[in-house]
Amino acid sequence: MSDGRMRAAFFTETGPPEVIRSGFLPTPVPGPTEVLVRVEAAGLNPIDTYIRAGSVRFPLPIPYIPGCDLAGTVVATGPESVFKVGDRVWGSNQGLFGRQGTFAEYCAVDERWLYHIPAGVSAREAAAGALVGITAHLGLFLHGGLQAGETVFVNGGSGGVGSAVVQLAKATGAVVITTAGSPEKAELCRQSGADHVILYREQNIDHRFTEITAQTGPIHLWFETLRMPTLDRSIPLMAMRGRFIFMAGRDSRPEFPLGPFYVRDLRAIGFAMFNASATEQKRAAEYLNIMLADGRFKPSVSAEFSIENTAQAHLLQELKTVRNESSLHGKILILPEGT
Ligand SMILES: NC(=O)c1ccc[n+]([C@@H]2O[C@H](COP(=O)([O-])OP(=O)(O)OC[C@H]3O[C@@H](n4cnc5c(N)ncnc54)[C@H](OP(=O)(O)O)[C@@H]3O)[C@@H](O)[C@H]2O)c1
Repeated sequence: MSDGRMRAAFFTETGPPEVIRSGFLPTPVPGPTEVLVRVEAAGLNPIDTYIRAGSVRFPLPIPYIPGCDLAGTVVATGPESVFKVGDRVWGSNQGLFGRQGTFAEYCAVDERWLYHIPAGVSAREAAAGALVGITAHLGLFLHGGLQAGETVFVNGGSGGVGSAVVQLAKATGAVVITTAGSPEKAELCRQSGADHVILYREQNIDHRFTEITAQTGPIHLWFETLRMPTLDRSIPLMAMRGRFIFMAGRDSRPEFPLGPFYVRDLRAIGFAMFNASATEQKRAAEYLNIMLADGRFKPSVSAEFSIENTAQAHLLQELKTVRNESSLHGKILILPEGT
């Protein structure tokens, strides 16, 4: 930071992963409500790849630094900040709505989007759980109204959002059903708290749902992480007044079986985490902090990249989420201080 410059990943036009370059950019100067954070770990999310590809359009500063999530140490604050130099913090919601992102040595963040990292929690864990943890919390509680004793289903229990949903739902006293693409991932789902895991690549899904719901009863909250839901399969599994949470698949136009849907008094709720207010996201973050501190929320990390290898990290995220061709189970991190 001494010469006013920092290492950063950036791009000047949208396109494939190769548009991402790295180099030196001016270190940001925090505004009156901002805090300057030295970034130790930054989590990669599917939305980062959509913004880079140009399929999700936000106004982008040029050059644009990608990345929503971060964890690190406060190095400068405004005069009335609730943070002080040396505080360890995490946050999300950067790189959106014209804001610069987090894949850099430093990031100036409006302090409304920052939270203390609990003692004993690493920057890696805090960054890995940021956007996915807030998303899971908003979906389960703000939108889904989850209650103890209800049965929750989430697709992809070892994925970023899915694993957070499993852990948060379990901690609330819900019965949790999920899916996994391999026996190894199924085991990770069970370790996260899943009561029942369907191996969606090798088992008969309908048969397994029949077996499982014979034990659990019908599903109260269906948290759909797939871009193309199969509602004809899902609706008969739902409890009267059950809730569907939809949060993936901008281009998705699935058929909607209206008849079976309304006769069960079902509800369908969509949301995008970045629409939540700073107050709503903070409420989620405070809950996550309690669970990070006592070990009930353990975000897992599977791959780490330097700033200079951000393009490869984007490619891996696309292989995982868009093409479903990766054996990766945890989050991908960018580590500005090196892997
Ligand atoms: N609305 C919002 O606010 C919001 C926030 C975050 C993410 N999202 C969206 O939510 C989706 C998930 O994000 P993520 O970060 O969790 O991605 P991720 O980490 O790549 O997880 C995707 C999961 O989907 C599972 N999966 C893929 N195909 C499946 C199938 N046919 N049946 C069952 N499971 C399947 C995978 O399971 P295996 O690995 O076991 O095969 C994997 O666990 C993305 O589309 C993302 O854009 C939306």
